[in-house]
Amino acid sequence: MAQPYTTNDFGAPAGSDQHSLTVGPNGPILLQDHYLIEKLAHFNRERVPERVVHAKGSGAFGTFTVTQDVSKYTRAAVFQPGATTETLLRFSTVAGEQGSPDTWRDPRGFACKFYTEEGNYDLVGNNTPVFFIRDPIQFPDFIHSQKRRSDNGLRDHNIQWDFWTQVPASAHQVTWLMGDRGIPKTYRHMDGFGSHTYQWINAAGERFWVKYHFKTEQGIDFFTQEDADAMAGIDADYHRKDLWEAIEGGNFPRWTLKVQIMPYDEAREYRFNPFDLTKVWSQRDYPLIEVGTLELNRNPQDFFAEIEQAAFSPSTLVPGIGLSPDKMLLGRVFAYADTHRYRIGPNYAQLPVNAPKVDVHSYSQAGPMRYQNYPKDRPVYAPNSYGGPHADASRVTETDAWTTDSEFVRQAYTLRAADDDFGQAGTLVREVLDDAARDRLVGNIAGHLLGGVTEPILVKAFEYWKNVDADLGARVENVVRGAQAQAA
Ligand code: HEM
Repeated sequence: MAQPYTTNDFGAPAGSDQHSLTVGPNGPILLQDHYLIEKLAHFNRERVPERVVHAKGSGAFGTFTVTQDVSKYTRAAVFQPGATTETLLRFSTVAGEQGSPDTWRDPRGFACKFYTEEGNYDLVGNNTPVFFIRDPIQFPDFIHSQKRRSDNGLRDHNIQWDFWTQVPASAHQVTWLMGDRGIPKTYRHMDGFGSHTYQWINAAGERFWVKYHFKTEQGIDFFTQEDADAMAGIDADYHRKDLWEAIEGGNFPRWTLKVQIMPYDEAREYRFNPFDLTKVWSQRDYPLIEVGTLELNRNPQDFFAEIEQAAFSPSTLVPGIGLSPDKMLLGRVFAYADTHRYRIGPNYAQLPVNAPKVDVHSYSQAGPMRYQNYPKDRPVYAPNSYGGPHADASRVTETDAWTTDSEFVRQAYTLRAADDDFGQAGTLVREVLDDAARDRLVGNIAGHLLGGVTEPILVKAFEYWKNVDADLGARVENVVRGAQAQAA
């Protein structure tokens, strides 16, 4: 097929793809060359700010198909028997920038957008079931300790470990991070988790607490530290390329979605605080229940438009799915839509990748880069006497929340019998890891500490790991002290 002729952005023919408009072949360039100016000025504006966290990522579209009947737990359309829903999934690293190597040790983002028949549902999770902190007020400090220093622009293991050892709530997540799951082989070879406890509400209005687990059907695989370091130098985009090529080649990655369900009233008595994001629920207490299959089968056509401008938010909810008293989750419900309005613009929800596949009947109007016309026959305010949309409370479940009544305080969660910072991390080390994985964990921690951590933070780090597991902590200390003695 013959290629069309070049036009400017308004559809009129362009004079040249190679030459500016000049006075004679030797210049100067004329200011009225508006086509040249359009090209240069548009180029200057090709970037939006990168995400403040999770800046480097990759994504693809696919389908979520329900395979089991969980309608007794939720009325959400996306999880009803027989439902298939178009989905977008964006994977990411957390602390790096747009160009950072994919194989740096870091948690990985696992952000899903389900374009459901009742509006969009975003599940913005990670490849780990827990997190470093349990109060959102600590998030900016935590991230500052993981990203670049303000003075020299460098990342610094010393400040990372200073933060972690000051905040023992981090122990469970840091154990995951320093283990094999801290550098997945590819995005296809890792699980995804909703991490927080959410709420499901069924058609009868009954409430349940739920945790989401996406189990990779490709199998779990990981990089050793050594191989990951080598790959960072060979191909910084290794994970992005792997995902793209798998889908281009018809090798569609799949995850099985399973959930843990806790009856509403059991949350009060469970031995761990079930809303504490640094804890998991035992699968012996709450076994996994299958829901459906997520398959990625379509690469983006335009990476910027569809992945960079994709905007996920834990506040993007649908009927049948709700929040929980997890303080972190409630903080996130504010943070994401706020950052999207800054990063992309207040009309970000109108971009094709973010827009729902159902009609929008809202009263939002105007603002920068608005491109959908306000409907001609819709009054611009509510309530009105002219047939405009009116809210129908019977369609939503957001007020099916939870019961609470207390004084305003600034305090940690009330501790329960089994709530401590190190217990579940120790169980992970002793009961989940095998000898080889434990050896690699020791090596990874020691290697990280030897990458610039100084006294007295080193001593605090040994204590931290001894609190997780006495033997593990002693081994880490031996390796680090041994290496220091050799270097001296
Ligand atoms: C991205 C804030 C905790 C998963 C982001 C972004 C912000 C943010 C501002 C950038 C969004 C954008 O520019 O598009 C916070 C705050 C947290 C928190 C304030 C705690 C209070 C978490 C947790 C998880 C998580 C616990 C996982 C369970 C993600 C993911 C992304 C992200 C996956 C990338 C989404 C994408 O692919 O566009 N977060 N975050 N965050 N966050 Fe969080």
